[in-house]
Amino acid sequence: MTSESLQPVSAPARRTVVAAVGAAGLAVALTACGSDDKKSSGSTEVNGGGSGGDDNAAAGNAGANVLAKTSDIPEGGGKVFADQGVVVTQPTAGTFKAFSSKCTHQGCAVKGISNGVINCPCHGSQFSATDGSVKKGPATSALAAAKITVDGDSITLA
Ligand code: FES
Repeated sequence: MTSESLQPVSAPARRTVVAAVGAAGLAVALTACGSDDKKSSGSTEVNGGGSGGDDNAAAGNAGANVLAKTSDIPEGGGKVFADQGVVVTQPTAGTFKAFSSKCTHQGCAVKGISNGVINCPCHGSQFSATDGSVKKGPATSALAAAKITVDGDSITLA
């Protein structure tokens, strides 16, 4: 008898609790939806103004591999283009030659062209500004030739 009287009491109690939680859950859900709407319009603006990567467009103006103007290369001398690893010489007026700027001795960058000679500052090797051949050691092999094209007054790396 005692157990029968307890069961009807406990059953309605459980239903009441479940119903209360359900209502609270709905209220929370509605509140969340309301705030989400406001936030979503704001976050849309943030996303829309995202980073427009225009850096590539700016880099696109390099165009041809123009190294220099012919007037940049002194007659009887030359110029080293470190970024390209090339030395361009003008051994005689109007004749332009190009070689690797990497010394064949131990790989230093050659520097300073004068009197038809390309000099390496590391150990004093000298190379012909006409054909890259060794004028003075310790280097034993010629500078590698590089291909250039002279078009008008522009020198282009081929
Ligand atoms: Fe050029 Fe030694 S690296 S002379």
